Amino acid sequence: MGIDPAGQVIVITGSSSGIGAAAAHRLAARGATVCLLARRADELAAVAEAIRGSGGDAHAYPVDLTDDAAARDVVGRVLAEHGRIDVLVNNAARSIRRPITASLDRLHDHERVMAINYFAAVRLISLVLPSMLEQGRGHVTISSTLSTQVPIPLFSAYLASKSALESYLRSLSAELGHRGITTTVVHFPMVRTEMSGGTEIYRAMRMMGPDEASRWIERAVVSRPSRVTSAFGVAGETSMALLPGVVTRATAPFFRRMDRNLARRAAAGDVHE
Ligand SMILES: NC(=O)c1ccc[n+]([C@@H]2O[C@H](COP(=O)([O-])OP(=O)(O)OC[C@H]3O[C@@H](n4cnc5c(N)ncnc54)[C@H](OP(=O)(O)O)[C@@H]3O)[C@@H](O)[C@H]2O)c1
Repeated sequence: MGIDPAGQVIVITGSSSGIGAAAAHRLAARGATVCLLARRADELAAVAEAIRGSGGDAHAYPVDLTDDAAARDVVGRVLAEHGRIDVLVNNAARSIRRPITASLDRLHDHERVMAINYFAAVRLISLVLPSMLEQGRGHVTISSTLSTQVPIPLFSAYLASKSALESYLRSLSAELGHRGITTTVVHFPMVRTEMSGGTEIYRAMRMMGPDEASRWIERAVVSRPSRVTSAFGVAGETSMALLPGVVTRATAPFFRRMDRNLARRAAAGDVHE
């Protein structure tokens, strides 16, 4: 059940690779018109071409979403060329894995991550919202992470940016739900993409593939729940709501041990590609 993606105009950011590209394929296969936004023009064109080759309707819009003028221009072009935007999938992001003690003179890590993960997403939502309000409906999805639900170390800049966007989305839903604006936060677990591939030891971790992850986006677009999550994520969130200090202290040694085990297995070539 839910809302049929067929005929919907769906903007997917970060669709030149990984989860965004897989989601574009999946939603186009269900009859949506997908508008693909990311910086790498060649990769974006290849994704659009592959979708069109399978009979789908895909359009590539190369853009750096941290550039205000470029973002304005691209939203204007999408609206002019397709008449409306029914769904906005905010999926473009970057991640940094670095201990806080190694980041003390690296405020730019936080600024760079916030620029794309938070400010660019809020900018895009702000640009698309007027047309959604005018048409009396619209759905906004964000790609977030299981790690905002549990106290994961080493990703302070990344997780702060994702938590900020989740809070923004909650406000959006509370303020504009009655005017037809629906929202979904997708709490992905680890997914095998270029992003997770940036960390060598994660080669030894079992992960979800991008195709499976794209089903989570599909669920967000079709069923429009306030969140798409896992049982582990719900358990993490609940235990953090009840006993944040205890849970954080109890899990920290586990995460340190997990990283040591992954490093040992990756060095021994025990990897999952
Ligand atoms: N992989 C995981 O384990 C995991 C887990 C939880 C959540 N997530 C989330 O899932 C989403 C997709 O990530 P992924 O794993 O599929 O990684 P990915 O393949 O690296 O995708 C990131 C996308 O963001 C785009 N992007 C980055 N900076 C941009 C900018 N300034 N302007 C426009 N586009 C930009 C990239 O395209 P260009 O480089 O072409 O611009 C790329 O298409 C992200 O929001 C990520 O935080 C991933």
